[in-house]
Amino acid sequence: MKKFIFACNFKMNNVSIEEYKRVMGEDDYSNVILCPNFCQLYQYAELKKNGVFLGAQNVSEYNNGAYTGETSADMLKNAGVDFCIVGHSERKKYNFETLSQTNLKIKKLIEFGITPIVCVGEELCNNETMSQTEYAKRYVLVELKEILQDIDISKVIVAYEPIWAIGTGKVAGIEHIKEVIDAIKKYAEVEFVLYGGSFGESNFEQIAAIDCVDGALIGGASLKPELICKMKKKLEEK
Ligand code: 13P
Repeated sequence: MKKFIFACNFKMNNVSIEEYKRVMGEDDYSNVILCPNFCQLYQYAELKKNGVFLGAQNVSEYNNGAYTGETSADMLKNAGVDFCIVGHSERKKYNFETLSQTNLKIKKLIEFGITPIVCVGEELCNNETMSQTEYAKRYVLVELKEILQDIDISKVIVAYEPIWAIGTGKVAGIEHIKEVIDAIKKYAEVEFVLYGGSFGESNFEQIAAIDCVDGALIGGASLKPELICKMKKKLEEK
């Protein structure tokens, strides 16, 4: 079976590095990206000895200057960051991030050699004449068109996260995920597309078995190091 990517977004939660160290032991975790809060980045860099990649959850679209509370791509690079999540729906909702801002952030990350994990995803469709899947495909392609403008697509990873599935326990159906991710790959020709939204113990095997899904962007389940390691090992036994 292909190596499935586990991209773990801790969001604003402290997850014990000691616990991750304990469960990882000496094993290889080179298909795992851990994205802790900014304050824990330096601590988590220690897990690179296991092959783990370090991810951030946000970046500024500027290089430096009077932007209180912001962190530049250059600073992230110096902290050992390899990947960075951009355009997450929670940043759009709570920080009013726009698609053109996301586009600028992606450009900055690529300039500094960090791989952007670009999030797209739709709300629930309230148009009775259209299926959720059809709505999702149209919605994410419109988002991608703007977000990926003038960007070398080979340098980004896309994460498809239906907003209604995030933190709700409602996972998108297998056929829905397959159709939307196929449409993304047809449109953008990106190498890796992840699925995100209530990914966990009860559904990881079915989702990982979908051909076009290269990995998952995981919120809640990533707060449990033991579960991440268990799911990773289980998939590798196949
Ligand atoms: P959950 O896995 O908690 O639904 O979160 C998904 C997510 O938002 C990852 O970025």
